[in-house]
Amino acid sequence: MTDKTATLSIDRGEGKIDAIDLPVMEGSLGPNVVNVGALTANGYFTYDPGFTSTAACESKITFIDGEKGILLHRGYPIEQLAEHSDYLETCYLLLYGELPNPAEKHEFVSIVGKHTMVHEQIRTFFNGFRRDAHPMAIMCGVVGALSAFYHDSTDISDSHHRTVAAYRLIAKMPTIAAMSYKFSIGQPFMYPDNSLNYAANFLHMMFGVPCEASNISPTIAKAMDRIFLLHADHEQNASTSTVRLAGSSQANPFACIAAGIAALWGPSHGGANEAVVKMLEEIESVDNIDKFIARAKDKDDPFRLMGFGHRVYKNFDPRAKVMKQAADEVLEELGIQDEMLEIAKRLEEIALKDPYFIEKKLYPNVDFYSGIILKALGIPTSMFTVIFAIGRTVGWIAHWNEMISGSYRIGRPRQLYTGYAQRDFVPLDNR
Ligand code: CMC
Repeated sequence: MTDKTATLSIDRGEGKIDAIDLPVMEGSLGPNVVNVGALTANGYFTYDPGFTSTAACESKITFIDGEKGILLHRGYPIEQLAEHSDYLETCYLLLYGELPNPAEKHEFVSIVGKHTMVHEQIRTFFNGFRRDAHPMAIMCGVVGALSAFYHDSTDISDSHHRTVAAYRLIAKMPTIAAMSYKFSIGQPFMYPDNSLNYAANFLHMMFGVPCEASNISPTIAKAMDRIFLLHADHEQNASTSTVRLAGSSQANPFACIAAGIAALWGPSHGGANEAVVKMLEEIESVDNIDKFIARAKDKDDPFRLMGFGHRVYKNFDPRAKVMKQAADEVLEELGIQDEMLEIAKRLEEIALKDPYFIEKKLYPNVDFYSGIILKALGIPTSMFTVIFAIGRTVGWIAHWNEMISGSYRIGRPRQLYTGYAQRDFVPLDNR
């Protein structure tokens, strides 16, 4: 809290003015925040659909400056983490606030490794799904169902339970994700191999088969690890806010993360990486790009260029910069040439020069390049958002834990009611 105050004057009519003093809060970085808590007692609410101007909590985990294109986790720039760190080390940083020393890192990695298997009965759970179920649909169901299996980590008031739930979720997400894919293609589930690192183990469970030794390319495993890292957290986005809101009612962690997965699924959020590839397929040829750009600019056409624009970034998404570099490296190393990738590159060039996209500050976001890189790595399109969910799990848990271990109240937004005023019931025969 600062000693500054904002004063809000509200004209109540007939010459009466309400002047309400509102304290101004100051963070360590970023804009100051007007604390509007006092408004309710004075008979007013604020109106902010989409929460474009509302800070819903205090947090020490991640900072974004959307104008400058800055993303910091616990103070460390994403570019430095992507270059020097790895996914599990970044998980530790997000959860505990500091980078681990070698002994702490070793212990963390080995504990996560101990939790990679899922309860054997969860395997039978999958048979309840249709074979053509979208893997995100399976994720919502199976991750929520973990609360039916791991009763010893659902007491949210016990910090040990919360820690074990965090390990379990980070460790089991790749296993469940790979199972959802294997189920859809009718192949046997693969058990985790804890001699592999986090990303390589995921690829082993995705692409390995029990009758052959897995052969995981270190290049692909490194690229996958970087994709997880770049998605690890992103402040109070839609899915993280959903996890916080669900958690504010004291729901158990597995149920909260399932809620986050549901919010992530939509094409405006994590579903965009899948939508990017579908869009590139629809564009079909470089010759058709202009037509699609024109559609994106047409106010009467709901079509949007998927993978462009961001609520917070009005400059390049810093994750997209790293992802683009990773995409270039992977494509070169694997010697991949693909018509769709050509379309993507041309689309990016054209959109970045187009006045519509420049004026509206619509830059390619992380999902534009992650869609491309995942396709190059041979990941099926339906798994793209699932991979985002694996990476983001640690962010969801870190925010949930930050909230539960501090002081919080149940999240309960208000509304501007625009329906009927009170009226009397009309009996059926008189209507
Ligand atoms: N293509 C064409 N026009 C766009 C696009 C786009 N991708 N994105 C925004 N606009 C226009 C929009 O029509 C609006 O124009 P006007 O002011 O004339 O009405 C203006 O730009 C502002 O858009 P908005 O919808 O008010 O912005 P928002 O902050 O509510 O939405 C967004 C942000 C990411 C949902 C949106 O840019 C979008 O739908 N992008 C495509 C989907 C996408 O790539 N999502 C992934 C986001 S990054 C990953 C993640 O963190 O989840």
